[in-house]
Amino acid sequence: MTGISSTPQWNALENDAAGLAGMSLRTLFEGDPERFARYSIEAAGLFLDYAKNKLTDEVVDHLLALAAAADVEGRRAAMFAGEAINVTEGRAVLHVALRAAVTDGYKVADVDVSAVVCAELKKMQGFCRRVHQGAFKGYSGKALDTVVNIGIGGSDLGPQMATVALQPYWIDGRRTFFVSNVDGQHLADTLDAVDPEHTLFIVASKTFTTQETMTNATSARAWFLKNGGAESDIAKHFIALSTNAEAVAAFGIDRDNMFQFWDWVGGRYSLWSAIGLSIALQAGFDNFEKLLAGARRMDDHFKTAPLAQNMPVMLALVGVWNRNFIGAAAHAILPYDQHLARLPAYLQQADMESNGKRVGADGSDVAHATGPVLFGEPGTNGQHAFYQLLHQGTDIVSADFIAPAISQRELGDHHEKLLSNFLAQTEALMCGKTEAEVRDELSREGMADAEIDALSPHKVFPGDRPTNSILMERLEPETLGGLIALYEHKIFVEGVIWGINSFDQWGVELGKVLARNILPEIAAAGENKPQATAHDASTNGLINKVNAMRGKVR
Ligand code: F6P
Repeated sequence: MTGISSTPQWNALENDAAGLAGMSLRTLFEGDPERFARYSIEAAGLFLDYAKNKLTDEVVDHLLALAAAADVEGRRAAMFAGEAINVTEGRAVLHVALRAAVTDGYKVADVDVSAVVCAELKKMQGFCRRVHQGAFKGYSGKALDTVVNIGIGGSDLGPQMATVALQPYWIDGRRTFFVSNVDGQHLADTLDAVDPEHTLFIVASKTFTTQETMTNATSARAWFLKNGGAESDIAKHFIALSTNAEAVAAFGIDRDNMFQFWDWVGGRYSLWSAIGLSIALQAGFDNFEKLLAGARRMDDHFKTAPLAQNMPVMLALVGVWNRNFIGAAAHAILPYDQHLARLPAYLQQADMESNGKRVGADGSDVAHATGPVLFGEPGTNGQHAFYQLLHQGTDIVSADFIAPAISQRELGDHHEKLLSNFLAQTEALMCGKTEAEVRDELSREGMADAEIDALSPHKVFPGDRPTNSILMERLEPETLGGLIALYEHKIFVEGVIWGINSFDQWGVELGKVLARNILPEIAAAGENKPQATAHDASTNGLINKVNAMRGKVR
């Protein structure tokens, strides 16, 4: 058993939670006018208010003691020092080096990695310039104004999320598409919308072996060859972002057209590397650099601020409190900014692939809950979908509300309305509405007592739903960088406290292997296959059903 939950610090928090069971957040606010000032932090252009969580100063002290017991500062130092903290893969975890100053001198196994990072960034910058100026031309001599990024997971979600977020910075006349799913419709629909003479395909894959990406890349190449391009034109239209130079060469992409990154960059932490090339091509390299600079500001804050004033640390401690002591098994990411529409999906991978673990870094079972289920939608859309459960469901769901004070595109009073919803929701989740308030309201509306008796239980809001609010002045490349880095470090700190390795992802392997086994058993359209017998009755039955349906196709 991994031991954090048998420590006195954990035990103190359990006692705190039990002691606070009958205490409402409303009451905590009523007795403490300084709560907002005390439970808020400003850093790297972001403002975090975590006052609407069921915390007291004693709880905060105990959470900080828990961080000390888990040696958060020591583990943080180990990460920044380039130690192989990803123990199951024997790798350093140094995405911070991708956005560092050359003088920061980050090292992996005693090798200064700044020089290689810098060289690759320069190569990306030069490439962006040539594409933007039309000097990097397609096979018919035309400029490439369209990018199709082919990748999945970290090679898709990060660049896609950031590209969408930076829409106001897009270079006029440029378009970027992201193809991830092995469902051929994703690629086919995209290819319908692009012109081969103007299209640059970016094959983004850390390993360059991922089934989805290699299948899509192979089909895209075939489409290109069928639609005007020749083999000798591939170098003008296909580039690769990868750590695997041999596989890139075997696919037929020129070494000059490969942008590299390194095994100390995890896939879900890779948007700062060459994997971010699609961001730079669409929003400009200068804005990509600003994104890196914003993340670096958050890194500096995370590295140096005392834990009690450290935004990622406090966000993580609040996360642990809600997950392990308040019982929130799910966590919502609720950006009140349409351009952050892909942030929940991005953070789903960042958080759930990192902290969805049931075994500690030492291989023993953990004795406590780890990462929550993450989900989310931009506000206000989510309000008209799943907020009902947040307000009145039987489970406590914690949530992060994120908003810029000024919209990238102010339009009439839209943003005031958006912000009023952003603020009202956390207030409603925290305060709720008591039965007395409901009855009073209904009676003032003139409702008869019998009707009030029947309706009031449905109109009560229990409140005490924990939320964080993250504000920024505007959503800009720098603040976006800071926001992403905030979550990266939050996830790291939570993983340290839970005693797990946040940087491997063995849980995705089994399904991949079984899919490879099943693939030869799936009939091509119109084909007859023998009955499947090698699996359990359900899987055999489903394979046979699928094949019967596909066999009918003429
Ligand atoms: O399936 C999980 C995963 O390995 C992710 O961790 C990764 O981001 C994704 O697949 C894509 O991997 P690659 O960049 O190697 O194609």
